[in-house]
Amino acid sequence: VRCQSTSTEEVKPKRNILDNASNLLTNFLSGGSLGSMPTAEGAVSDLFGKPLFLSLYDWFLEHGGVYKLAFGPKAFIVVSDPIVARHILRENAFSYDKGVLADILEPIMGKGLIPADLNTWKQRRRVVAPGFHALYLEAMVKIFTDCAEKTILKFENLLKEESLQEEKVIELDLEAEFSSLALDIIGLSVFNYDFGSVTKESPVIKAVYGTLFEAEHRSTFYIPYWKVPFAQWLVPRQRKFQSDLKVINDCLDGLIRNAKETRQETDVEKLQQRDYLNLKDASLLRFLVDMRGADVDDRQLRDDLMTMLIAGHETTAAVLTWAVFLLAQHPSKMKKAQAEVDSVLGQGRTTFESLKDLKYLKLIVVETLRLYPQPPLLIRRALTSDALPGGYMGDKDGYAIPDGTDIFISVYNLHRSPYFWDKPHEFEPERFLVRKENEGIEGWAGFDPCRSPGALYPNEITADFAFLPFGGGPRKCVGDQFALMESTVALAMLLQKFDVQLKGSAEDVELVTGATIHTKNGLLCKLKRRDNAH
Ligand code: HEM
Repeated sequence: VRCQSTSTEEVKPKRNILDNASNLLTNFLSGGSLGSMPTAEGAVSDLFGKPLFLSLYDWFLEHGGVYKLAFGPKAFIVVSDPIVARHILRENAFSYDKGVLADILEPIMGKGLIPADLNTWKQRRRVVAPGFHALYLEAMVKIFTDCAEKTILKFENLLKEESLQEEKVIELDLEAEFSSLALDIIGLSVFNYDFGSVTKESPVIKAVYGTLFEAEHRSTFYIPYWKVPFAQWLVPRQRKFQSDLKVINDCLDGLIRNAKETRQETDVEKLQQRDYLNLKDASLLRFLVDMRGADVDDRQLRDDLMTMLIAGHETTAAVLTWAVFLLAQHPSKMKKAQAEVDSVLGQGRTTFESLKDLKYLKLIVVETLRLYPQPPLLIRRALTSDALPGGYMGDKDGYAIPDGTDIFISVYNLHRSPYFWDKPHEFEPERFLVRKENEGIEGWAGFDPCRSPGALYPNEITADFAFLPFGGGPRKCVGDQFALMESTVALAMLLQKFDVQLKGSAEDVELVTGATIHTKNGLLCKLKRRDNAH
């Protein structure tokens, strides 16, 4: 299978809702079905030589926005078209569940929001989402800043130890450092637990990484080998996984017990108005336990916490890793970001208010998510038969799909689609900034810049599902604002004090994937203290 470049001139005009409705009808009448769908016939070895999502990109250029991919007896439909993605994620969202992803994650996250069946999801989303309210986020910015400060202090101390050397440069694996930082942040903000992983190791931290490793491994296999009878007792890696899981579960159970013992039941509105900045425990767990009418068994609460721990840790660490990777290759953009940090923060700390002015940094985070979406594939399974609408790219009649169809929505393909993005592989945070000629207002230029000029960041609505940094529809990420703020704070505090270079060349940084895209051997960087940093 060869990668064919497609020129942006081939972009077709946008369709409207009426077009889509008529496509659906034509589809049913003409019987457009799986049989007529283009099929990727690459060698199976393509799937193992490099991350799956990269092969899916090559096939997308060859076969278009909707194609079928056969893995032995199993077939997946790969969607790289915004209209079809919008249909599955938003318009007909409740006809799909998480399919293979739920099989993979259920042993770890139970009925937490990500793998949850629709009934459980409906109940829990209603309870969890209000927890991410404005005052909570404001209090979290303080936690992000405290934690990032500890990381920077650690780097500065390392630099002091190295200062006998001429160059005053430290070499670090920033991917590992970001991983520790993100773990500390998620522990404190979700269940008020200090992993302290930036400065120490502990059995719980080891167990978290063991569990993440296994989740990662499982998500690269699409056959649930762990369900083989007795595997969890007989296979050493599975036994280790079970014991890691027990360590974390015991820890979470203890935290839930404590929170319940000190429960102060209150209405949601009152909870959202608490004096968060001065609360001893501003965590999401406290909110969930104190919320009137949200009684759940401890098991469900534990599943929710575990889900948040995993969903909010790897993703943010990956964004920070790739943001630095990209900035290090674009020194002028790093300088521009540092100039913004200097003018907004000086030598001070990040605050909820100052985040609003760190606009270029936010765009860096968003552009990083375009190039390295986390996760690169969204997974769904049709619960009923459905009619996929026609898309932008050739397959205008759409397809009828039977229930049980497994689908990958390739966010990576959408984000690097030559149909929608100018120079799709280039790091260009400025691409999202447009000045609307008549109004002189800055808005976000995604697919349709005018659709949502008041948006906090370029998102799936502004880009009409050509850009899905946090998914879309009812199952969109519940922590999107949290994650954007966290990444912006961490990046700002790093760039305030340090210039960063890659230790080797960018080509040496190999990319691997499980649930998220990360590096094969870490992101080895040279950190040099900036001249103006005190
Ligand atoms: C769901 C991305 C950070 C909690 C999702 C989804 C995406 C995503 C794409 C949708 C998955 C799907 O449709 O299958 C990200 C990225 C993050 C991030 C890129 C960081 C940069 C966080 C954080 C939290 C979180 C910090 C919590 C503190 C969740 C939860 C869901 C979710 C609970 C499931 C939502 C539902 O099904 O109702 N995330 N996420 N995420 N994310 Fe995030």
